[in-house]
Parts: sequence; structure tokens; C-alpha cells
Amino acid sequence: MDKAKRKAIIAGNWKMNKTPKEAKALLEQITPLVKDADCEVIACVPYVDLATAIEATAGTNVKIGAENCHWAANGAFTGEISTGMLKEIGVEYVVLGHSERRQYFGETDETVNKRTKAALAAGLKPIVCVGELLWERECDITEEVIARQIKLDLWDVTEEELKNVVIAYEPVWAIGTGKTATSDQAEEVCAFIRAQLAKLYNQDAADAVTIQYGGSMNDGNADELLSKTNVDGGLIGGASLVAEKFAAIVKAASK
Ligand code: PGA
Repeated sequence: MDKAKRKAIIAGNWKMNKTPKEAKALLEQITPLVKDADCEVIACVPYVDLATAIEATAGTNVKIGAENCHWAANGAFTGEISTGMLKEIGVEYVVLGHSERRQYFGETDETVNKRTKAALAAGLKPIVCVGELLWERECDITEEVIARQIKLDLWDVTEEELKNVVIAYEPVWAIGTGKTATSDQAEEVCAFIRAQLAKLYNQDAADAVTIQYGGSMNDGNADELLSKTNVDGGLIGGASLVAEKFAAIVKAASK
């Protein structure tokens, strides 16, 4: 396993925060701070902020992602956004299967899979989120839960397509709670995810996939988490809304 061969990716997940004006202001703070990053830097922002964000980051090393997309090309899906709409304005990444989508909006592994397939077909790079609930961890079924999510969410994704997939391991109990998984816990599950990918594809394909950790990652714990062999980056919620904190995490990933 060679961590150096994988692309380190730090992605901000802004969730339902920042108006377009606020997004522009935050990105104008972030871009100069991360301009020398030796990792991929992404901001995943609300739909209405996307066009502004793409404009604000033009000519910089910051890429823009959406927080979801639908699987149909178009049609009667009130409130949804298609991959074509995202592609046309210059979006590169899309977060899929975030636990908040699963928990509050009825997202299932089946719909995550449909969205993933559609995103890949459109040339978007999905950041597919998996993670266990606290209760599932307490019942000692973390591995079963993760194995099932990986298998179903990536169902029918080819080895060629896998090159454009990023996996984010986000233990649900650590998201927005200030409770970070220990670096050993993060490494254990990220390594397990890679082993599952090796089973479903092969070791080379698995070794090339960037696996992020997410869940209360911040400027204080990023170094330790990112030092782990199988933790190739982070999906950052709260700390991505503060330019200096986000930049410090990017710096930790650039080492
Ligand atoms: P958090 O969120 O960093 O605020 O815990 C992470 C996420 O939900 O992606």
C-alpha cells in the first residue's frame, strides 16, 4: 500500500450554510490561504452558491462540488438538480449519500447507487459517504454496515469508473458532535473500506482510491488523523466555514 500514490483531498462540506454573497466572501478568504496546497482542495457548497463559487475560484486551485444530484437526466422531480445542470456550470465533484441525506431525507443505498452511477456517467466525481450509527458501533456491527454500504453504493460501478470515486468514511456519531473518531478508529475503518474495495475490484484499484475521514475533523486533530496510512484526506463540515481552520487542515494534508 502506497499512500504517496494517492491524491490527498481536503473537501469542505458547507451543508446549508452561506448565501451567495457570503460564499464569495469566504472563498475570497480561503483561496489565497490554500494557493500553495500540495493536495486537492474542494469546496462543496449549496446549489444556489455554485455559480458564484465557480466564478470566485476561477484560476485558483480550489475546485467546486455540489452536495447532491439526481440520477435522472431531467423530468418531473420537483426540487431536484440533474448532473447535466451541474456539469454545464463547471462543477467537478458531488457529495453523495451524506448521513444527513440518509437520516433526514430518506436516502438509501439504492438511491445513493443511482446517483453515483449518474454522476460518473456525466463525468462528475462523486464523494460517496459511508458510516455507522453510534448504536451500530455499540452493537459491534460497524464492519457489516460499512461492507454493505460499499457494496451497494458502488454496485455496478466499473473499475475504470472507480478511478473517479472518492470515499468518505464519516461515523455518524462524530458528525457535528465535536466527538472525533480516534485516529486508530479512523484508520481501522478506512483500511477495512480499502480491503472491501480490493475484494470487489482488486488490490491495485483499491490502493488508488482516496479515502477521506469526516466527522469533527479540525485544525487541531487533522495532523494526527491524516498521518494514518489509509486516511487520505478529509471531508470537513464545521471547520470548513472558517477560512483559517480550513487552510490549516489543507496544510496538514500537504505535508
Ligand atoms: P463536521 O461535518 O466536520 O461538522 O463534523 C462533517 C461532515 O458532515 O461532512
